[in-house]
Amino acid sequence: MADVFDKLIDEVLGDKNREVQELLERGRLYDCVVQEVKGRKVRIGDRWITDFASCNYLGLDLRADVMATIAPELRRFGTHPSWARLAASPVLYETLEEKLARLCGAEDALVLPTITLIAIGLIPAVTGKGSVIFADKLVHKVNHDGCRLARDMGTELQGFRHDDLNDLDRKLADAQERKTKTRLVVVDGVLSTTGRVPDLRGIHALCTKHEAILYVDDAHGFGVLGEGPTAEMPWGHRGNGVLAHLGIPLDNILYVAGLSKAYSSLAAFVLCPTKLKPKLKCNITSYIVSGPVPTAALATALAGLALNEIEGDRWRRTLHQYTHHIIQSYRKRGIATDNDSGFPIVSAWVGSKEAVERGGQLLYDEGVYVTLQGYPLVPRDKGVLRATPTVANTDDEVEHLIEAVDRTVKTLRREGLTP
Ligand SMILES: Cc1ncc(COP(=O)(O)O)c(C=O)c1O
Repeated sequence: MADVFDKLIDEVLGDKNREVQELLERGRLYDCVVQEVKGRKVRIGDRWITDFASCNYLGLDLRADVMATIAPELRRFGTHPSWARLAASPVLYETLEEKLARLCGAEDALVLPTITLIAIGLIPAVTGKGSVIFADKLVHKVNHDGCRLARDMGTELQGFRHDDLNDLDRKLADAQERKTKTRLVVVDGVLSTTGRVPDLRGIHALCTKHEAILYVDDAHGFGVLGEGPTAEMPWGHRGNGVLAHLGIPLDNILYVAGLSKAYSSLAAFVLCPTKLKPKLKCNITSYIVSGPVPTAALATALAGLALNEIEGDRWRRTLHQYTHHIIQSYRKRGIATDNDSGFPIVSAWVGSKEAVERGGQLLYDEGVYVTLQGYPLVPRDKGVLRATPTVANTDDEVEHLIEAVDRTVKTLRREGLTP
């Protein structure tokens, strides 16, 4: 009998996502095995490399006081609450939901392990036959997947051009005229490739006008952006997310965010009115049957939120200074970056997939780890070397990043890979 896995590789997987396979094989900064971590330096084999690829924006992964909160909760609840949430949940979940709702000024919140699980559970749950979804063309892949799942279950799915409010207005008006049930607009709060913040005020106004629900995935903004921005604190205060930052009220919004980036923990949540929560519990598949957040992650999520109230704005001030310095230095040196929000996702544009691969090799040699984003993860000519500084980086590491990216981009230009 033929080996079914040989057949699978030959006929199905061999060429599927070939560009991603090539990026993995040749880009160097992919799929690396980390042997040890010291501050923001990671050891890969026998080489220490400075990490600008994690999104642990607030540096909480390294804090001894956060780690110390794990053991007592393990003694209380064991290592893992192996119920699906519908069956039972440790009280830590309730506490976390209350704290998240309070921080964000919402009535209630529902916690699941990841944003991915929320996207594939919640988007189909609130739509269905007779409903229509409008997905921003640049929305994160996990949200596209949630939308496609909803489409398979009978929802109409339409895309709209990123930040093209006229396009969205026309489409929403048409759907309203057809008396569709849910009209759901799906966007990211901060684009994960460029740090760009969409025109959320404009999009929210259109949703209000056409009685639509706005689904915002703020995976990156939560913990970094917050209420009441000032000249001294341009990202605002408390890190309670992009909507608070822009002063957008939560009515008719499903705000989704996670703790796996800024808070270095594993949990995600959706804010909702209290009256909606029991209905969501009965309709989100990942609430009904999926596994829960581990006890250790519930403990570190709560510890991080408590520290945020005391120290968070100071961290964000430092992180803002790092980010501002990187963006300004890139601009001074002619390194193209389309970060127009000042957010700590700073991508150096290099263009083609080949330039991204080669950039990864050069930066590995420089001892700098960034996220490689080339086609098909981004459009063909939009390949970038993405750096995400965190508050746990040092001044020297930030300078090293700037110098290393500068040398790398110069080499790519010399080699004719970047225009
Ligand atoms: C915008 C966005 N949404 C969702 C995710 C996935 O989040 P999670 O790991 O919580 O599923 C990511 C991760 O990179 C992201 O950037």
